[in-house]
Amino acid sequence: MKVVMVGSGYVGLVSGACFAELGHSVVCVDKDTSKISDLLKGRTPIFEPGLGEMIDRNIAADRLSFSVSIAEAALGTDAFFIAVGTPPRPGDGEADLAYVRAAAAEIGACAPPRTVVVTKSTVPVGTGDMVESLVRAAHAHQDVEVVSNPEFLREGSAIRDFMRPDRIVIGTDSFWAGSVMEELYQPLTVQGATLLRTSRRTAEAIKYATNAFLATKISFINEMADFCEATGASIEEVAKGMGLDRRIGEAFLKAGPGFGGSCFPKDSMALLATAHSHSVPLRLVESTIAVNEARKRAVGRRILNAMGGSVHARKVAVLGLTFKPNTDDVRESPALPIISSLQSSGAKVVAYDPEGMRRARAYLRDVAYAADAYECVEDADCAVLVTEWDEFLGLDFRRIASAMRQRVFIDLRNAVDVPRLTAAGFAVHRIGHAPTPNPPTGSTAGPGSREPRIVSANGTPQVGLEIAREAFGGAALRAAKDY
Ligand code: UGA
Repeated sequence: MKVVMVGSGYVGLVSGACFAELGHSVVCVDKDTSKISDLLKGRTPIFEPGLGEMIDRNIAADRLSFSVSIAEAALGTDAFFIAVGTPPRPGDGEADLAYVRAAAAEIGACAPPRTVVVTKSTVPVGTGDMVESLVRAAHAHQDVEVVSNPEFLREGSAIRDFMRPDRIVIGTDSFWAGSVMEELYQPLTVQGATLLRTSRRTAEAIKYATNAFLATKISFINEMADFCEATGASIEEVAKGMGLDRRIGEAFLKAGPGFGGSCFPKDSMALLATAHSHSVPLRLVESTIAVNEARKRAVGRRILNAMGGSVHARKVAVLGLTFKPNTDDVRESPALPIISSLQSSGAKVVAYDPEGMRRARAYLRDVAYAADAYECVEDADCAVLVTEWDEFLGLDFRRIASAMRQRVFIDLRNAVDVPRLTAAGFAVHRIGHAPTPNPPTGSTAGPGSREPRIVSANGTPQVGLEIAREAFGGAALRAAKDY
């Protein structure tokens, strides 16, 4: 089958390459001429394990090509996918659909008769209706069907998520369009992938509900981590004990510095905005956002406590800048507010990330970047692991310890083996555990000295909703006025 993927960002590129890998003929289109010219020269614009090789393989097999023009690519197309960005609108957090609208109109103007247009971008419930009217208004034959087919790809493991999906969701009431989609995904369904057919609006809602639920799981376990820290329990064992209950499941129960990335924060806010427009309060989603925002901000204070109350003129080595490993994406990464808060307390920050430093430079000021983890910790008073890259787990911690001025290690992902750190002489601070004994002289860190869970910039405790209002300007949270 022939597929045109409109939008060659993260989702479009991965999905386009994977459809080609499944044997379809794919053209990935983007208006960004420099991106397309890079792709034509064999350069992949994003870091995603396995993607570059997959693109090369499918170009060589003549199944994958690139273009800056939808019209040029349109001839003989069975399905046009819309995979353009839906960034949050400044001020209210609603998804900005300008790119979706433009793509729909352009596809409508050149689509052959009897074509399927598929929305893969994450869009508010009901957007498919708007896409349908735009496509049909521009289409000569009016016989185009619009389908919702949300993506569930995680950065860093997107190819695996596409090729071995937990489910494929197809939202359409058209029998014919549904059959085209089934044929497209047939190479996966024959291997056992589950395909769920539903209405278009339901498919759109499934995407938001899934991301909101996963984000809620993370905020829940992060609050439990604080609880464990205060009560002497172990968060990993609590998460394991919970996860063994099949009704809960073990995934997405890793406590950390808060969720980031381009999806959970943006999609939760967009879901709230849609709910607000329908006068439906989503209190759990509001709390999830509020807990997460507060958590990211509280980490700076946690580091301050571990350092005995002050980081002024002290050197803090930050290991990891991306919002998770195996990506170069730093959007909404917890590392950004952590570094700002350290800097406003007078710390000198040196950072290292295997892939994220180029993008981080656009967000951060006055940070020194190191060539590797060993250079990063040189003469540092404290090392903070923010992102659990594999290369950090295998470091020589004795070498790290001897390069540092003080041996304080704060592991915000509970990723490093504690005995290795303590054997190297570190005072170790982790999430959801009391600190290991032997904190540095003068440290106030200890089970009783943890920061208030939610603290405002001036140190007064706040309730979650206030934090979310402050963080997002409040507009999208009006639905909760009776909270
Ligand atoms: C997320 C979803 O997992 C995908 O299914 C979805 O398709 C995608 O958003 C999207 O809507 O496009 P992604 O943002 O790439 O994918 O990353 P996740 O692996 O979900 O992680 C998000 C954040 O949660 C990261 O900061 C991660 O460190 C954090 N996290 C994740 C935790 O703190 N604990 C966990 O147990 C899991």
